[in-house]
Amino acid sequence: MADITVRKIRFSFEAPFDFDVSDGELGEMLGPLALSMTMPYLEPYLIRTMKVAIKRISDPALAEDARRFSQQEGHHYRNHAVLNDRIRAQFDESVAAALRGIEADLEADYQRFTRTRSLRFNLAYAEGFEAMTCAAALAAAEHGAFESETLPGAEMWAWHMAEEIEHRTVAFDVYAHLVGSYPYRILAGTWSQWHYVSYIRRFAKCMANALGRTPKGPKTPLQRAALRNYLRTWSPRYDPAKIELPAGVEELLARYSAMAAP
Ligand SMILES: [Fe+2]
Ligand SMILES: [Fe+2]
Repeated sequence: MADITVRKIRFSFEAPFDFDVSDGELGEMLGPLALSMTMPYLEPYLIRTMKVAIKRISDPALAEDARRFSQQEGHHYRNHAVLNDRIRAQFDESVAAALRGIEADLEADYQRFTRTRSLRFNLAYAEGFEAMTCAAALAAAEHGAFESETLPGAEMWAWHMAEEIEHRTVAFDVYAHLVGSYPYRILAGTWSQWHYVSYIRRFAKCMANALGRTPKGPKTPLQRAALRNYLRTWSPRYDPAKIELPAGVEELLARYSAMAAP
Protein backbone atom coordinates (compact mmCIF):
# COMPACT_ATOMS: atom_id res chain seq x y z
CA MET A 1 0.00 0.00 0.00
CA ALA A 2 1.24 3.47 -0.84
CA ASP A 3 1.81 5.98 1.95
CA ILE A 4 -0.96 8.50 1.21
CA THR A 5 -2.38 10.96 3.73
CA VAL A 6 -5.65 12.74 2.96
CA ARG A 7 -5.31 16.37 4.07
CA LYS A 8 -8.34 18.62 4.11
CA ILE A 9 -6.97 22.13 3.65
CA ARG A 10 -8.73 25.22 2.32
CA PHE A 11 -6.48 28.03 1.13
CA SER A 12 -7.50 31.64 0.64
CA PHE A 13 -6.33 33.63 -2.32
CA GLU A 14 -6.22 37.22 -1.14
CA ALA A 15 -2.87 38.26 -2.65
CA PRO A 16 -3.29 40.55 -5.66
CA PHE A 17 -2.41 39.28 -9.13
CA ASP A 18 0.47 41.07 -10.80
CA PHE A 19 0.41 40.67 -14.58
CA ASP A 20 2.82 43.59 -14.98
CA VAL A 21 5.83 41.30 -15.43
CA SER A 22 8.17 40.40 -18.31
CA ASP A 23 6.90 38.24 -21.20
CA GLY A 24 8.94 35.32 -19.86
CA GLU A 25 7.55 35.68 -16.33
CA LEU A 26 4.04 36.01 -17.75
CA GLY A 27 4.58 32.73 -19.61
CA GLU A 28 5.61 31.09 -16.33
CA MET A 29 2.50 32.48 -14.65
CA LEU A 30 -0.17 31.79 -17.28
CA GLY A 31 0.75 28.09 -17.50
CA PRO A 32 -0.18 27.37 -13.87
CA LEU A 33 -3.26 29.62 -14.08
CA ALA A 34 -4.41 27.67 -17.16
CA LEU A 35 -3.71 24.41 -15.33
CA SER A 36 -5.81 25.61 -12.42
CA MET A 37 -8.74 26.31 -14.76
CA THR A 38 -8.84 22.64 -15.81
CA MET A 39 -8.78 21.12 -12.32
CA PRO A 40 -12.49 21.36 -11.35
CA TYR A 41 -13.24 19.22 -14.46
CA LEU A 42 -10.18 17.01 -14.80
CA GLU A 43 -9.97 15.89 -11.17
CA PRO A 44 -13.68 14.94 -10.82
CA TYR A 45 -13.23 12.93 -14.05
CA LEU A 46 -10.29 11.06 -12.45
CA ILE A 47 -12.44 10.44 -9.36
CA ARG A 48 -15.31 9.05 -11.51
CA THR A 49 -12.83 6.76 -13.27
CA MET A 50 -11.45 5.48 -9.95
CA LYS A 51 -14.97 4.90 -8.63
CA VAL A 52 -15.64 2.48 -11.51
CA ALA A 53 -12.16 0.93 -11.20
CA ILE A 54 -12.43 0.31 -7.42
CA LYS A 55 -15.33 -2.12 -8.00
CA ARG A 56 -13.03 -4.29 -10.12
CA ILE A 57 -9.83 -4.08 -8.08
CA SER A 58 -9.17 -7.41 -6.36
CA ASP A 59 -6.32 -6.14 -4.16
CA PRO A 60 -7.75 -4.39 -1.04
CA ALA A 61 -4.56 -2.34 -0.48
CA LEU A 62 -4.70 -0.99 -4.03
CA ALA A 63 -8.41 -0.23 -3.67
CA GLU A 64 -7.59 1.78 -0.53
CA ASP A 65 -4.87 3.65 -2.45
CA ALA A 66 -7.45 4.49 -5.14
CA ARG A 67 -9.86 5.78 -2.48
CA ARG A 68 -7.22 8.02 -0.92
CA PHE A 69 -6.12 9.21 -4.36
CA SER A 70 -9.71 10.27 -5.05
CA GLN A 71 -10.02 12.03 -1.69
CA GLN A 72 -6.81 13.97 -2.31
CA GLU A 73 -7.98 14.97 -5.81
CA GLY A 74 -11.32 16.05 -4.29
CA HIS A 75 -9.59 18.51 -1.96
CA HIS A 76 -7.37 19.74 -4.80
CA TYR A 77 -10.12 20.73 -7.20
CA ARG A 78 -12.23 22.42 -4.50
CA ASN A 79 -9.33 24.79 -3.79
CA HIS A 80 -8.74 25.36 -7.51
CA ALA A 81 -12.41 26.26 -8.00
CA VAL A 82 -11.98 29.12 -5.49
CA LEU A 83 -8.73 30.26 -7.14
CA ASN A 84 -10.44 30.12 -10.54
CA ASP A 85 -13.15 32.53 -9.36
CA ARG A 86 -10.31 34.93 -8.52
CA ILE A 87 -8.69 34.33 -11.92
CA ARG A 88 -11.90 35.11 -13.84
CA ALA A 89 -12.38 38.22 -11.68
CA GLN A 90 -9.07 39.64 -12.97
CA PHE A 91 -10.71 40.11 -16.38
CA ASP A 92 -13.80 41.86 -17.72
CA GLU A 93 -17.08 39.98 -18.13
CA SER A 94 -16.53 39.06 -21.81
CA VAL A 95 -13.19 37.40 -21.02
CA ALA A 96 -14.65 35.68 -17.96
CA ALA A 97 -17.45 34.37 -20.22
CA ALA A 98 -14.87 33.14 -22.77
CA LEU A 99 -13.02 31.30 -19.98
CA ARG A 100 -16.31 29.78 -18.83
CA GLY A 101 -16.94 28.65 -22.42
CA ILE A 102 -13.64 26.73 -22.48
CA GLU A 103 -14.48 25.26 -19.07
CA ALA A 104 -17.85 24.07 -20.45
CA ASP A 105 -16.14 22.41 -23.45
CA LEU A 106 -13.69 20.60 -21.17
CA GLU A 107 -16.44 19.45 -18.82
CA ALA A 108 -18.48 18.17 -21.80
CA ASP A 109 -15.45 16.17 -23.03
CA TYR A 110 -14.87 14.58 -19.63
CA GLN A 111 -18.53 13.77 -19.05
CA ARG A 112 -18.59 12.16 -22.49
CA PHE A 113 -15.45 10.12 -21.72
CA THR A 114 -17.03 8.83 -18.49
CA ARG A 115 -20.28 7.97 -20.30
CA THR A 116 -19.05 6.50 -23.55
CA ARG A 117 -15.39 5.45 -23.31
CA SER A 118 -14.05 2.19 -21.88
CA LEU A 119 -12.55 1.91 -18.41
CA ARG A 120 -9.32 0.95 -20.19
CA PHE A 121 -9.30 4.31 -22.00
CA ASN A 122 -10.25 6.31 -18.91
CA LEU A 123 -7.53 4.61 -16.84
CA ALA A 124 -4.94 5.28 -19.56
CA TYR A 125 -6.07 8.93 -19.58
CA ALA A 126 -5.70 9.08 -15.80
CA GLU A 127 -2.22 7.57 -15.90
CA GLY A 128 -1.18 9.79 -18.84
CA PHE A 129 -2.21 12.85 -16.87
CA GLU A 130 -0.69 11.65 -13.59
CA ALA A 131 2.65 10.67 -15.19
CA MET A 132 2.95 14.06 -16.91
CA THR A 133 1.97 15.98 -13.76
CA CYS A 134 4.33 13.99 -11.55
CA ALA A 135 7.19 14.64 -14.02
CA ALA A 136 6.52 18.39 -13.75
CA ALA A 137 5.97 18.30 -9.96
CA LEU A 138 9.28 16.49 -9.42
CA ALA A 139 11.08 19.09 -11.54
CA ALA A 140 9.39 21.89 -9.59
CA ALA A 141 10.49 20.30 -6.30
CA GLU A 142 14.06 19.80 -7.57
CA HIS A 143 14.29 23.46 -8.62
CA GLY A 144 12.69 25.03 -5.56
CA ALA A 145 9.69 26.29 -7.57
CA PHE A 146 7.39 25.53 -4.63
CA GLU A 147 8.68 28.69 -2.94
CA SER A 148 7.45 31.05 -5.69
CA GLU A 149 6.45 34.51 -4.49
CA THR A 150 4.86 35.69 -7.74
CA LEU A 151 2.57 32.79 -8.60
CA PRO A 152 -1.03 33.38 -7.44
CA GLY A 153 -1.96 30.63 -5.00
CA ALA A 154 1.68 29.49 -4.71
CA GLU A 155 1.16 27.84 -1.33
CA MET A 156 -1.81 25.84 -2.62
CA TRP A 157 0.21 24.80 -5.66
CA ALA A 158 3.04 23.56 -3.44
CA TRP A 159 0.56 21.45 -1.44
CA HIS A 160 -1.13 20.15 -4.58
CA MET A 161 2.11 19.25 -6.35
CA ALA A 162 3.54 17.60 -3.21
CA GLU A 163 0.42 15.42 -3.01
CA GLU A 164 0.67 14.63 -6.74
CA ILE A 165 4.15 13.27 -5.96
CA GLU A 166 2.77 11.44 -2.91
CA HIS A 167 0.05 9.61 -4.89
CA ARG A 168 2.17 9.14 -8.06
CA THR A 169 1.93 5.32 -8.02
CA VAL A 170 -1.85 4.99 -7.81
CA ALA A 171 -3.09 5.58 -11.38
CA PHE A 172 -0.09 3.61 -12.68
CA ASP A 173 -0.75 0.65 -10.37
CA VAL A 174 -4.50 0.62 -11.04
CA TYR A 175 -3.81 0.70 -14.79
CA ALA A 176 -1.24 -2.12 -14.40
CA HIS A 177 -3.72 -4.16 -12.32
CA LEU A 178 -6.77 -3.77 -14.58
CA VAL A 179 -5.31 -3.11 -18.05
CA GLY A 180 -1.57 -3.72 -18.13
CA SER A 181 -0.80 -3.09 -21.82
CA TYR A 182 2.35 -0.99 -22.27
CA PRO A 183 1.66 0.07 -25.92
CA TYR A 184 -1.86 1.16 -24.99
CA ARG A 185 -0.54 3.16 -22.02
CA ILE A 186 1.74 5.05 -24.39
CA LEU A 187 -0.82 5.40 -27.19
CA ALA A 188 -3.86 6.47 -25.18
CA GLY A 189 -1.71 8.21 -22.56
CA THR A 190 0.00 10.40 -25.15
CA TRP A 191 -3.35 11.19 -26.78
CA SER A 192 -4.73 12.17 -23.37
CA GLN A 193 -1.75 14.45 -22.73
CA TRP A 194 -2.28 16.09 -26.13
CA HIS A 195 -6.00 16.53 -25.34
CA TYR A 196 -5.25 18.01 -21.94
CA VAL A 197 -2.44 20.32 -23.12
CA SER A 198 -4.63 21.64 -25.96
CA TYR A 199 -6.97 23.00 -23.25
CA ILE A 200 -4.05 24.50 -21.32
CA ARG A 201 -3.11 26.35 -24.52
CA ARG A 202 -6.68 27.58 -25.02
CA PHE A 203 -6.96 28.94 -21.46
CA ALA A 204 -3.51 30.56 -21.59
CA LYS A 205 -4.16 32.11 -25.01
CA CYS A 206 -7.50 33.50 -23.88
CA MET A 207 -5.85 35.20 -20.88
CA ALA A 208 -2.83 36.43 -22.89
CA ASN A 209 -5.10 37.93 -25.57
CA ALA A 210 -7.18 39.64 -22.88
CA LEU A 211 -4.00 41.17 -21.46
CA GLY A 212 -2.84 42.15 -24.96
CA ARG A 213 0.40 40.28 -24.37
CA THR A 214 2.51 37.63 -26.09
CA PRO A 215 4.05 35.62 -23.27
CA LYS A 216 7.25 33.75 -23.97
CA GLY A 217 7.33 30.01 -23.42
CA PRO A 218 9.68 29.54 -20.48
CA LYS A 219 12.90 27.64 -21.30
CA THR A 220 14.40 27.29 -17.87
CA PRO A 221 16.36 24.48 -16.18
CA LEU A 222 13.05 23.55 -14.51
CA GLN A 223 11.35 23.09 -17.91
CA ARG A 224 14.26 20.99 -19.15
CA ALA A 225 14.11 18.81 -16.02
CA ALA A 226 10.34 18.39 -16.47
CA LEU A 227 10.88 17.29 -20.08
CA ARG A 228 13.59 14.82 -19.02
CA ASN A 229 11.33 13.35 -16.32
CA TYR A 230 8.44 13.20 -18.78
CA LEU A 231 10.47 11.33 -21.43
CA ARG A 232 11.32 8.71 -18.80
CA THR A 233 7.61 7.93 -18.43
CA TRP A 234 7.69 6.50 -21.99
CA SER A 235 10.06 3.71 -20.99
CA PRO A 236 8.58 0.21 -20.70
CA ARG A 237 10.52 0.04 -17.42
CA TYR A 238 8.92 3.24 -16.07
CA ASP A 239 7.50 2.68 -12.60
CA PRO A 240 6.71 5.70 -10.43
CA ALA A 241 7.35 3.56 -7.30
CA LYS A 242 11.05 3.56 -8.22
CA ILE A 243 11.34 7.35 -8.34
CA GLU A 244 13.61 8.82 -5.70
CA LEU A 245 11.95 11.84 -4.10
CA PRO A 246 13.73 15.19 -4.34
CA ALA A 247 14.92 16.74 -1.08
CA GLY A 248 12.25 18.67 0.78
CA VAL A 249 9.14 16.83 -0.43
CA GLU A 250 8.73 14.78 2.77
CA GLU A 251 9.15 17.93 4.90
CA LEU A 252 6.59 19.73 2.77
CA LEU A 253 4.09 16.90 3.19
CA ALA A 254 4.67 16.88 6.95
CA ARG A 255 4.05 20.64 7.03
CA TYR A 256 0.72 20.23 5.22
CA SER A 257 -0.24 17.31 7.47
CA ALA A 258 0.14 19.71 10.40
CA MET A 259 -1.94 22.36 8.57
CA ALA A 260 -4.79 20.01 7.64
CA ALA A 261 -8.12 19.95 9.43
CA PRO A 262 -8.21 17.06 11.94
FE1 LIG B 1 -4.56 16.74 -7.97
FE1 LIG C 1 -3.21 13.38 -9.15
